[in-house]
This record gives sequence, structure tokens and C-alpha cells, in this order.
Amino acid sequence: MQKQICSVGNLKGGVGKTTLSLLLSRYFALKGHDVLLVDADPQGSATQHLLSDEIVDDDGVITKGMHVLLDVMLRSGGSIEDSVIESQLHHVVPKDSPNEAYWLLPNFLTASYYDSYLTANGFHLTLMKKVLRTLDNYSFTVVIIDCPPYVNAFTTSALVVSRHLIVPVESAPISVVSARLMLETAARYMRDGLIPPDAIEQVMIVPTKVRRTTASSLAYKQIQHYYGDYVTSSYFPFSDLANKFYAGAYSMEKLLRDSSRAAGKIRSLLEELETKILMEDSGE
Ligand SMILES: Nc1ncnc2c1ncn2[C@@H]1O[C@H](COP(=O)(O)OP(=O)(O)OP(=O)(O)O)[C@@H](O)[C@H]1O
Ligand SMILES: [Mg+2]
Repeated sequence: MQKQICSVGNLKGGVGKTTLSLLLSRYFALKGHDVLLVDADPQGSATQHLLSDEIVDDDGVITKGMHVLLDVMLRSGGSIEDSVIESQLHHVVPKDSPNEAYWLLPNFLTASYYDSYLTANGFHLTLMKKVLRTLDNYSFTVVIIDCPPYVNAFTTSALVVSRHLIVPVESAPISVVSARLMLETAARYMRDGLIPPDAIEQVMIVPTKVRRTTASSLAYKQIQHYYGDYVTSSYFPFSDLANKFYAGAYSMEKLLRDSSRAAGKIRSLLEELETKILMEDSGE
């Protein structure tokens, strides 16, 4: 099966990128896929989810991940050995739900030091390609890249390798326009030749934090109106389940059995995204 690489990005913060990235990683893992979650955000939100003490030192510094790779690259003038890349992966095995285990390339604040270095040397265009090529022997079938809420070297490096772009958009008035900025960024990269014109095959705009209020309903309608066919038919409702999952207090197995309305909506969304992401494979 071909590797499905998905960037989860939006230039607006707090819209649910990390929550959706974590849900997708554990959903695909539970379905039997070999999953790699790349935390491309130096804020390290995805890294904090279920992070074990194994990779945190006494000062609270994450000892594996993207920031370590970048440090090695800078010292060596850009080259990086395969063994160094492999040793940065962390196997995340949820205690009460080991069937949802996935591999994580963690991230930490210090990675942000390297942003301009990456871009100045063109490494933002090659880094993720190199990482994924090196990790070929892990046979990942799904790669989820949790992007930061900015256009920077990390966002670019994610878009360069992705076939699918998932854009969570909060159903709130100020957020609706944010998806357009993300789409324009991807289109500009294609226009400028940073990524091949057909590299991103599918864009999926996911309304998130949908509430049953007038303002949220209006924003939801605007998202559908502005982005038409790009918008998924299912949405991510505003729900405490999202926070519980994010905090590691709720598993995918529980979500799949949960009879609440919110869990049902989240399941529908995951199933729709799964179908869309895997459907791309059938034409190959
Ligand atoms: N559907 C939801 N319902 C309620 N709360 C949610 C939902 N999705 C996410 N949240 C909460 O909103 C906060 C932001 O979510 P998250 O970190 O996933 O957003 P983000 O887009 O990754 O943010 P950032 O731009 O800072 O990386 C978290 O506290 C999360 O638990
Ligand atoms: Mg995030």
C-alpha cells in the first residue's frame, strides 16, 4: 500500500489541528495501519500527548525529535546520517489501549531556533523528504504531520511531502477566512515551484468546534459556502471528549464504543477522512 502523507494545517491557532492529528493517528493505528505522527510544531503539543518519562530529561527537555535532528544538521553543515534520524523516533503505546500505538517524531521549542537556517539553506524543501525516505523500512502506511499555525520552514517542509492537506477550521466568525490563507499558501508554493503542481492531490476542509449556537451555525454555513466541495460532509463538534482525548484520558477504543451524540459525530468524521485518504490509493 502506498504511503498516505497528510498535513494537518491552518495558519490560525487553536482550531483543533493537534487534536485531529492525534485522533487520526490513533484511529488509523487501531485499524491496523503503521502510523507515523510528525510533530512539526516546535510548541510540541502533539509531543506532550501521552509522552513518557523515557524521553524527558530532568530539566523538562525532550531528548528526541526534530530539534535534535536540526541541531545535528547545523553542526554538520546539512548532512545527517540515517541512524540519527531513526534514533529520534519514539514509540507511543497508550497504556490502556496498546492497539493504538504509533510512532512519533517529537518536537520541542528549541527547534524554532533553526527556522531561518532551514529556509536560508533550502533544507526546508529536503528535510522531510530525507526523513521519510530514511524511515522507509518502517513501512508506514499513514503519515500525519501536525503543522504549526504559521507559514514557516516547518509548514513548508510538511507541504512539500504531502499528498493530502487537511485544514481544520473553527466554526467561529473570525476563523472562517483562515482556511483561505492556508489554501493560498499551498497554491503559492505550487506556483513558485517549491512543490510540484500536482503534489497535493486532495484538500479536505474540516469544520471544527461546531456548536449549536447561532454564531457557530452561521460560521458553519459560511465555511460550506466559501469552500464548497473541499468541505467534509462530517464535522468535529465542540465537545469535552476532545479535551479528554487530548489529555490522554480517553482512548480511540472508547470513542468507537461511546454512544453519545458527540462521539458519533467524531466517528463519522474519522470514517469520512479515512475513506477519502485511502481512496486516493485505489487509482494508483
Ligand atoms: N472539538 C473540540 N471541542 C472542544 N475543545 C476542543 C475541540 N478541538 C480542540 N479543542 C481544544 O482546543 C484547544 C486547542 O486545540 P488544538 O491544540 O488541537 O488546536 P491547534 O490548532 O493544534 O492549536 P495550535 O495552533 O496552538 O497548534 C485544546 O485545548 C483542545 O483540547
Ligand atoms: Mg497544534
